[in-house]
Amino acid sequence: MISRNVARQWMETWDAQQQIYAVRREHRFAVVSKAVKAATGHSDTPIIIDIGAGPGSLAEHIARDMPDARVIAIEADPFLIELGRAAFGKRIEFVETTAGADGWLDAVGVDRIDAAVSSTALHYFAVNDLARLYHDLHKAVSPGGLVVNADHFPLNPLVGELLGNSGDGGTAWQQWWNAARACDDLTTALALREHVVLPDGGDNDLSADAHMLLLSDAGFTATDVIWRDGVSTIVAARK
Ligand SMILES: C[S@@+](CC[C@H](N)C(=O)[O-])C[C@H]1O[C@@H](n2cnc3c(N)ncnc32)[C@H](O)[C@@H]1O
Repeated sequence: MISRNVARQWMETWDAQQQIYAVRREHRFAVVSKAVKAATGHSDTPIIIDIGAGPGSLAEHIARDMPDARVIAIEADPFLIELGRAAFGKRIEFVETTAGADGWLDAVGVDRIDAAVSSTALHYFAVNDLARLYHDLHKAVSPGGLVVNADHFPLNPLVGELLGNSGDGGTAWQQWWNAARACDDLTTALALREHVVLPDGGDNDLSADAHMLLLSDAGFTATDVIWRDGVSTIVAARK
């Protein structure tokens, strides 16, 4: 539906707007990928899922770093899935489902998960939904397996204010969607999202410590921050 060339151009602008929200995003991807590789290297064909993958930027980064892995991008928005499929071909498997909703793991359809990653997506989840997601992941992840979440996590306000005000209030995100809607090459694919209920895009404002508490409650005994640059943070949990 979307040609490879058109998809690649739109992936460039997608990544550009996401970099505004995910400080040092490419470096963050590299750190996530390195942790996944270290935790799953023993497996011949590790199974890695990317939750809230969008069109698959992180999934593709991991697939490049780990040619033998099965990389599954989980995304609720069928338009972004279409864009990712057109850009990356068969190297990434896409599954259209709402992670954390009833039956989402059945939709993923694997008998084990070696690592679950996420980038700039779990802030969408209401706290209860996130707690359920982490419980589901604890059940599904292999022993020694990993959950790695790269996102923006608020700092203590008195400390955070020292860094100044960052972010654009969502302007670049809105501009990207407006430009996509104005592009004739994307009209058919965009129509796919008209009949689905999409995550509402709110922000749960959970700190890194709050994520680690939820992960501990879900049964992950080893949790820590593995990288941070201001609010841009990676939390990891090992089973
Ligand atoms: C800001 S985008 C980031 C996408 C991608 N991870 C990246 O870094 O480019 C967040 C994505 O998470 C998806 N999302 C949010 N909640 C989700 C859920 N419960 N299940 C599946 N996808 C979800 C949204 O549809 C959106 O595409």
